[in-house]
Amino acid sequence: MFDVLVTRVMVDEAMRALDGRCEVDVYTGPPEAIPYDEFRARAQGKHGLLTMVSDRVDAGLLDAAGPQLRIVANHAVGYDNIDVDECTRRGVMVANTPDVLTEATADLAWALILAAVRRIGEGDRFLRAKTPWIWGPRMMLGYDLYGKTLGIVGYGRIGQATARRAAGFGMRVIHHSRSGGHSFDDLVAQADVISVHAPLTPETRHLFSTKVFQRMKPTAVLVNTARGPLVDEVALAEALRGGEIFAAGLDVFEREPLVEAALLALENVTIVPHLGSATVETRTAMGLFAVENLLSGLHGERPRGLVND
Ligand code: DGY
Repeated sequence: MFDVLVTRVMVDEAMRALDGRCEVDVYTGPPEAIPYDEFRARAQGKHGLLTMVSDRVDAGLLDAAGPQLRIVANHAVGYDNIDVDECTRRGVMVANTPDVLTEATADLAWALILAAVRRIGEGDRFLRAKTPWIWGPRMMLGYDLYGKTLGIVGYGRIGQATARRAAGFGMRVIHHSRSGGHSFDDLVAQADVISVHAPLTPETRHLFSTKVFQRMKPTAVLVNTARGPLVDEVALAEALRGGEIFAAGLDVFEREPLVEAALLALENVTIVPHLGSATVETRTAMGLFAVENLLSGLHGERPRGLVND
C-alpha cells in the first residue's frame, strides 16, 4: 500500500475516492492550512502528496519527504506554490487540475466585474449600516458595460471563457498574452474593464504597478481572479484612493490569507476570499481529478494533469 498525505479535507466524494486505494494521512488542522514545519514532518516517507495552493512545496519539503516520493498532485490549476524544476530534478511528478474550473472561475470574474462597476458591495454595506436614504438621480453611480471594451490579460482557458461571456453584455473584447493579441500598453490604455488571467511567474509579478494604473482610464475597473502578486496591492490602493482608476474586484491577494489594510479601508474595492473555483460541482471535479492524478503517479502511470515530464 502507498502512503499519502492529503493536506486539507476535500469534498466527500473526493475523500471517498481514496478509500482502500492507499494509506491516507489527512491533515485536519487547526490551523486550517498545514503549517510548513508540520507539512515537512508529515510528508516524511510518503509516496504521494495531495496539496493545496496554500502549501509550499520546495527543496526543503522535498528533502524532508525523502527519495521515495513519486508525485505531488495539486488540487488547483495553478502550481506556483510548487518548485516544479526541483521536483523534476528529483524525478517527482507534479500534476494539476486544468479545465474543470474554467467556467466557475470565469463566472466569478464576471461577478467581480459587475460588483465593482455597479458598486454592489458598497450598496450592501450602506444598507446594512442602516444609513438613511431615498432614491436619487446621483446616488451611487457606476458605469455601463454595454458598448465598452473588456481587456483580458492572459488568454488561456479561463481568459477565453471570461471573454466569451462578454458577448452577452455587448462588450468588445481585446486581449494580451505571451503568444499574441494587443500589446500590454495598448490594452491598458484602451480597456474599460481589465480582467487578469495570467499565471504567476517572475515576469508577471507586479505586472500591475503604479505606472500601469497611471495609464489606465480613470473610469476603468481592474479584476483579478488569477494570483495576487500580479498586482502591487499598495499601488492599487493608492490608485483607487486617488481616483486613478474607478474600482477593483479581487479574488486573490499578494500575501494570502492577509489582505492589504489600505485596501480594506476603501469602498471602491470588492474582495472575496479566493473563491474562483468554489462551487460544489467544480470542487468535486477538482478533488476527483487530483485523486486521479495522485493514484496514476503512485502506480507509475502518466497523470492526466502532468505538468513536468
Ligand atoms: C487554482 O486552481 O489555481 C485556484 O486558484 C484554486 O481554486
